[in-house]
Amino acid sequence: MNPLAQDATAAAKRTELLSDKIVINGGKPLRGRINVRGAKNLATKAMVAALLADTPSVLKDVPAISDVRVVTGMLNAYGVTVTETSDGELTLDPKNVLKAHFAKIDALAGSSRIPILFCGPLLHRLGEALIPDLGGCRIGDRPIDFHLDALRAFGAVVDKSYEGIRLTAPDGLHGADIDLPYPSVGATEQVLLTAVLAKGVTELKNAAIEPEIMDLIAILQKMGAIINVEPNRVIFIEGVDKLSGYNHRALFDRNEAASWASAALATGGDIFVEGANQQELMTFLNIFRKVGGAFDIAEDGIRFWHPGGELKPVVVETDVHPGFMTDWQQPLIVALTQAQGRSVVHETVYENRLGFTSALIEMGADIEVFEEGIESISRRVPRRPLEQAAVIIGPTPLHGADVEIPDLRGGFSHLIAALTAEGRSTVSNIGIIARGYEHFIDKLEILGADFVYEG
Ligand code: EPZ
Repeated sequence: MNPLAQDATAAAKRTELLSDKIVINGGKPLRGRINVRGAKNLATKAMVAALLADTPSVLKDVPAISDVRVVTGMLNAYGVTVTETSDGELTLDPKNVLKAHFAKIDALAGSSRIPILFCGPLLHRLGEALIPDLGGCRIGDRPIDFHLDALRAFGAVVDKSYEGIRLTAPDGLHGADIDLPYPSVGATEQVLLTAVLAKGVTELKNAAIEPEIMDLIAILQKMGAIINVEPNRVIFIEGVDKLSGYNHRALFDRNEAASWASAALATGGDIFVEGANQQELMTFLNIFRKVGGAFDIAEDGIRFWHPGGELKPVVVETDVHPGFMTDWQQPLIVALTQAQGRSVVHETVYENRLGFTSALIEMGADIEVFEEGIESISRRVPRRPLEQAAVIIGPTPLHGADVEIPDLRGGFSHLIAALTAEGRSTVSNIGIIARGYEHFIDKLEILGADFVYEG
């Protein structure tokens, strides 16, 4: 039996109960086989989509991560029963949708940003949505103006109060013409989840087209929606009167797969990531190969390894799909500290997503962060006003240090850095990683990492 195919609830509890610290004796290559299941950034949205139906939905390959637990709690509060019918398979029954107390929703939403995506479905089902102040990783301002503007275009009335946002739709929701200022993932999902049951046609311009969005569209189509993805980031949605439940296997988590790939490279290891698929990782694989990593694509996953010899520096610009994802740069930067020469990472999606590098510097990395970004002669992404850049000079041996995890992806890069570093590191605030990395402690064990928990 797959050692990871264990009771998700027990594993989730174990992760929750973890002392917030992990002590790592690094400098040992990670080797072995682990699996990835459904994407955090799809599964949680697919769960919200179940609210739109009048019959139960079944979602498979749902990872045991805390963001899934947050959405489960919120759905429960709105009367949707969520049952784990088998390992990683959820049945979501929305037949008794009801209003929830704001205080309850506020408490349940915790540090997640998913609550904003409940707006459209709740307006359709209940005529009202109450959204608490949003959390999520502290990687920039993370405003919700695109979401609120889109909802207003559908006919929603937005009232802001000290506790959050109240939305109503006195005349119902109708199709709208929406042109996003930036191809935002969340705002595109907001439009999709609202337009499918709105009266009339919605035209969405400058939409995000990430694989997780395409998978959400596939789910909505299974439910009865009519959605046309046109060239040049245009999506047409013809509203329908009702939607039924879906049965769907979630797209694999490409961010988790890329994280383990970078861990293999940084530690000089060899990791087979079962469940990883080439198509959604093509841009990552190109950069991985340019840095000097080796990979082999099998039917059931991808093997990533360090083939020996020197790693090479690269210039990378994060971007919306099909560009290099902003969630891939943090683990990759750890591997770049071991490359021979000067690498540059331009972060163009978020304005504050390089702060995690200070811990790497403490561990011996030579990294300079340019808060205003830097000009580069060979840019493929047009420069955005909010961008930052990191220049990484390598190779630098890393040494153990005490570091505190700031956010999900930056936190995973701290873990990789501690595993790469010679000596002992204490990584605290480890619970944040459970938001998006299923059974990561078990996986570290499987990969032969040398670590202990500490209270
Ligand atoms: C999603 O965030 C993901 N989160 C992020 O993953 C991911 O990094 C990001 O997409 C980009 O791929 C989830 O799916 C839960 P955006 P989202 O709206 O939807 C600006 C992870 O670690 N913006 O595409 O919040 C925003 O500030 C996380 O898994 C506005 O200005 O991202 C940013 O600069 C972190 N106004 C840019 O757009 C808005 O109303 C892209 O954000 C919305 C966004």
